[in-house]
Amino acid sequence: MENVFDQVQRNIDRLVEENVNWSACATAEQLQNAREGRLVMTFGEDGVIPAEWLGDVKGWKVLCLAGAGGLQAPLLACAGAEVTVIDLSQRMLDKDRALAARESLEIRIEHGNMCDLSRFEDASFDLVFNPPSLCYVPDVGPVFREVYRVLKPGGTFIMVSSNPIAYVCDWDEDLGCYKAVNRMPYRSADHEGQGDWVEFGHTMESYLGGQLAAGFVITGYLENQTEDITELYFATRSEKR
Ligand SMILES: C[S@@+](CC[C@H](N)C(=O)[O-])C[C@H]1O[C@@H](n2cnc3c(N)ncnc32)[C@H](O)[C@@H]1O
Repeated sequence: MENVFDQVQRNIDRLVEENVNWSACATAEQLQNAREGRLVMTFGEDGVIPAEWLGDVKGWKVLCLAGAGGLQAPLLACAGAEVTVIDLSQRMLDKDRALAARESLEIRIEHGNMCDLSRFEDASFDLVFNPPSLCYVPDVGPVFREVYRVLKPGGTFIMVSSNPIAYVCDWDEDLGCYKAVNRMPYRSADHEGQGDWVEFGHTMESYLGGQLAAGFVITGYLENQTEDITELYFATRSEKR
């Protein structure tokens, strides 16, 4: 039987071929701004990661964790970081490959699973940037422990995810509004009509408590709600002290 990661990989590759909005690459203007010292990393619909969360990434070793798609990795590379991107989806990684070739950027591309970072040595990164993707892993604990291991002491971990409220509530046709229907944590496999879609709704306890248990000190927390109010994203900044 196919494991969940094979399913996720296939699902994501299919969505990328359908041009899902989160597979959009960085624009020429964003890349130029990053080259000129104005790196802007976004989250959610229009959230901006504060510049002080990142610092000056020039010369830093940065890991874009489950962060392919030609957005974060090329921007960080344009800002002068030494970037590695690891992702399950070859179609998403193809976007980084294409942009790196077009923009003459050196980006190390790794096809792999964020739950297993054994190919990276201990204390090898200054920054790990993780865009929304933890909803595709059954357990965030091993990911946080691996991120902690591969970060240098003093290193920064920034992660973005959907707030668990997205999984607690479902659209109710009769009521014409969202209604709290699911007990957390949520697993798509527990629900009918999900087809081969694999998704996990983790609790805030696992997102925040999981980082603390791995040894991180959480130093920043932000939220961004979409204009149509249906999605609430959050971002955390943590440090390995
Ligand atoms: C929503 S995209 C995030 C990147 C995109 N650039 C963005 O900003 O939205 C989610 C990414 O997570 C990757 N992914 C999902 N599960 C993964 C896993 N277990 N290991 C590595 N990458 C994974 C997917 O292939 C996809 O590229």
